[in-house]
Amino acid sequence: PLVSMTDMLKKALEGKYAVGQYNINNLEWTQAILGAAEEEKSPVILGVSEGAARHMGGFVTVVKMVEGLIVDMKITVPVAIHLDHGSSFDKCKAAIDAGFTSVMIDGSHHSIDENIEMTKKVVEYAHAKGVSVEAEVGTVGGQEDDVIGGIMYADLAECIRIVKETGIDTLAPALGSVHGPYHGEPNLGFKEMEEVRDATNIPLVLHGGTGIPTHDIKKAISLGTSKINVNTENQIVFAKTVREVLAAKPDAYDPRVFIAPGREAIKQTVIGKIREFGSNNQA
Ligand code: G3H
Ligand code: ZN
Repeated sequence: PLVSMTDMLKKALEGKYAVGQYNINNLEWTQAILGAAEEEKSPVILGVSEGAARHMGGFVTVVKMVEGLIVDMKITVPVAIHLDHGSSFDKCKAAIDAGFTSVMIDGSHHSIDENIEMTKKVVEYAHAKGVSVEAEVGTVGGQEDDVIGGIMYADLAECIRIVKETGIDTLAPALGSVHGPYHGEPNLGFKEMEEVRDATNIPLVLHGGTGIPTHDIKKAISLGTSKINVNTENQIVFAKTVREVLAAKPDAYDPRVFIAPGREAIKQTVIGKIREFGSNNQA
């Protein structure tokens, strides 16, 4: 059941739901997310940032770990291993060569011409191997690993160009979302989202899923958003749970004693997201 995102997102767009991309940080994170998806009969995208891949040992380790868990946990739902915010062609190629089934090439910090050029190169390499590609136009606010930036809305003409000129499978048009917690209510550009959907007709991605209220999630899905990325929320519930267990059991030292409850908290959070995004019973 290791697959690219292509089919998952096509079905999600038609069925008016979204598939969650849940970022992984380690073994327990991966168990929690795969377990939640299997229980809910939901397709799932495991997001792996370059920093998280480094933390886990590298792209090969990530792929082998996921493959192992799919067997041991008897996972039957479709699973994509997706490079999140890939910074260059070389990084995307390395992930694909290691067995990633999907990559994001994030050229949003470059000029649109450079963004299109690097995206095109990734699409050529990826599609030859059945791997799906996500690109980004505009900038998501907040912090992603070590990149901190302000919000810049995606330009419609640029969105149309990148879709037409590169053949990407899915596009993340930055429309006011932020990585990490929001300060106040998010202010998403729904009118622009609708315009991009109408002009491109491909599944759209919403980054910065943490802290977006349910009514905005539903609206985004109704306007063509087929993939929603969630990372920080799982980090927050994990850290909170582990802190509580350590405070309640100050003598604990076996890591399993405090990590297992953190893993369960992530699983419950992901189950909630799957139901909110409507991807349950779609696998
Ligand atoms: O690419 C990852 C996401 O956009 C995660 O955003 O940490 O705000 O949930 P988040
Ligand atoms: Zn993101």
